[in-house]
Amino acid sequence: MSQGANKATGEDKIAQQPLIAATGISKVYRTVSGARVEAIAGIDLVIDDGDFVCIVGPSGCGKSSLLRLVAGLDTVTSGRLTLAGAPVRGPSREVGMVFQNATLLPWMTVLENVGLPLRLASADPDKAGDDDGLVRELLGVVGLGGFSDKYPYELSGGMQQRAAICRALVRDPKVLLMDEPFGALDALTRERMNVELQRIWQASRKTVLLITHSIAEAVFLGDRVVVMSPRPGRILQDFPVELERPRNFAETTGHPEYLQLTREIRALLDESSGEEAQ
Ligand SMILES: Nc1ncnc2c1ncn2[C@@H]1O[C@H](COP(=O)(O)OP(=O)(O)OP(=O)(O)O)[C@@H](O)[C@H]1O
Ligand SMILES: [Mg+2]
Repeated sequence: MSQGANKATGEDKIAQQPLIAATGISKVYRTVSGARVEAIAGIDLVIDDGDFVCIVGPSGCGKSSLLRLVAGLDTVTSGRLTLAGAPVRGPSREVGMVFQNATLLPWMTVLENVGLPLRLASADPDKAGDDDGLVRELLGVVGLGGFSDKYPYELSGGMQQRAAICRALVRDPKVLLMDEPFGALDALTRERMNVELQRIWQASRKTVLLITHSIAEAVFLGDRVVVMSPRPGRILQDFPVELERPRNFAETTGHPEYLQLTREIRALLDESSGEEAQ
């Protein structure tokens, strides 16, 4: 990869690396019967520090596979995938992940759940309580300040998902990966969570890669919307979204650029998959 002027110092070189860079990556699974399933093929994707990138694509096109590769939970079959210039070889503390369901541990309080990654990473896991201040502060940011001692079953779906976002952020990773984080929520809660996530992102300056089935959500949240083809997933188009921030539902969703983009993305998905997009 060209890194500009030859005289650049080592530090400059690091600063110039894209935070996430996928070059021609593919993922092939082997099923138990030995069949080959090509999930993604030849994906090139560069994501810069601080970007908010949304990925949409038909069901089964390899979106979760791609996210798992970036998270270091799985390995590429071919191609090159780097995080801050270094090949991804496994999970990194610079990456936090939020799954479709909040996946909180039911026997732990919100405080314990969110602090779990810190305890797992600590040299002395018995030193419980040292990080409570940090966890409480994060919970306050997402409006769960008064819920730290509750158990997951005492929270609504949206609140559980906010706790899961806190858990992903608790080690202050550079990158937040989100796999359909709001898919299980009702429409109104989902809108509120979108606004909330935008606020968290703007305050924390994380790099976010979010997968969604909702074109509306992708255009509302993203700096870019990457559209994938049916399996094996390839990138069909990468749409920049230049709508002003902070975005709010009333204004943004009526904006001509928003309407135009959602129409274009829907048409592309319909055309490529023959399925009806949401
Ligand atoms: N561990 C695995 N072993 C074998 N095949 C797999 C495995 N994981 C995923 N697949 C297959 O790879 C393809 C892509 O799956 P993936 O979960 O990445 O799609 P997706 O785009 O996230 O779908 P959805 O939108 O429904 O969540 C699918 O055909 C799936 O059956
Ligand atoms: Mg998926």
